[in-house]
Order: sequence, then structure tokens, then C-alpha cells
Amino acid sequence: MDATAKKLALRKLTYGLYVLTVRKNDNVAAGTVTWLSQASFEPPLIMVGVKASSGIHSLIERVGAFAINILAEGQKNIAAAFFRPSQIENDRINGYAFEPGPKTNAPLLLDAPAWLEARVVETVKRGDHTIYVAEIVEAGVRNPEAKPLELSDTGWSYGG
Ligand SMILES: Cc1cc2nc3c(=O)[nH]c(=O)nc-3n(C[C@H](O)[C@H](O)[C@H](O)COP(=O)(O)O)c2cc1C
Repeated sequence: MDATAKKLALRKLTYGLYVLTVRKNDNVAAGTVTWLSQASFEPPLIMVGVKASSGIHSLIERVGAFAINILAEGQKNIAAAFFRPSQIENDRINGYAFEPGPKTNAPLLLDAPAWLEARVVETVKRGDHTIYVAEIVEAGVRNPEAKPLELSDTGWSYGG
């Protein structure tokens, strides 16, 4: 295989930016992810690739549910705040206000224009990322007009 072509072709896939959050009592984890897609209309499923060595991975393994905060154009700063380990301080997670998800208790960022809560129904462990297939159990929209933030607009890459 041509390794350079493989890398460049994979980097032409299109992605959004999302803050994935998980919570179990005092344990909270959050991280910016890109490898996410809808996977079924009925039941409503999403799939997300989560780095096996990450904090969000170990907490999803324990909780079996998570929330996806969908970021809008202009919210690159929020994405950047969740590349590092997450903590709750003064009722904010990594500096951002949130409320608990009604079904999963996972933090929902008040600035995010839309969110989903999902429960894991299938886990695929193959490479360095685990694929979680999860059923959407709740959803909310705070700003219907928002245009989603796209990876190609950020100058960052994750893939290849
Ligand atoms: C542009 C970009 C995209 C990323 N996409 C993903 C992703 O799809 N899945 C993932 O598990 N981690 C992804 N990461 C890494 C996570 O953001 C990071 O592992 C997460 O913040 C968890 O932190 P931890 O590894 O310290 O627990 C991405 C990082 C960057 C810079």
C-alpha cells in the first residue's frame, strides 16, 4: 500500500467536531472527538470511534452511556479546551457551563447548539480506537440556526 496516499485520502474524509462527555457520580470525562456518524434511522443509532487509551474510553466502559455536544462554527475554542484532561471546577467543566443530561447525567455544554444522549448497544474493539454503536435516548437543540463546526475549517487533522 502507498502509505502517503492512504494518509492523504483518509484526511479528505469530512468530519464535524463534538465534545463527548461521560459521568458517573464524581467521575467525569470529556474529550473532543471527530470520528462520529449516524448509523441507523430506526432504532436511531450513532457510532463513534474513541481512543482506547483515553479517559473518555475508560469511563464509557464503566457507564455504557455518553452525551455528544455538537459544536458550531466559531466554537473552535471550545473544541480546543477538551483536548486535555477534563475537570469540573466552580460548576464549569474545563471552563464551560453545563447542565446534567436528563437520561445519562453526562454534562451538556450550555454553549453547544445541539446535543444527543446515547446508550451503548454494541462495542467493536479492533484497532487503537473502539467503535461504540449507541442508541440515542434524548436530544436537544438550543440554536437551530447554528452551522456546525467542520474539521476542515479548523486547520487541525485527526486521521491518516
Ligand atoms: C482534531 C482532533 C480530533 C480528535 N478526534 C478524536 C476522536 O474522534 N476520537 C478520540 O477518541 N479522540 C480524538 N481526539 C483526541 C481526544 O480529543 C483526546 O484523546 C481527548 O481529549 C481525551 O483526552 P485523554 O486522552 O487525555 O483522556 C482528537 C484530537 C484532535 C486534536
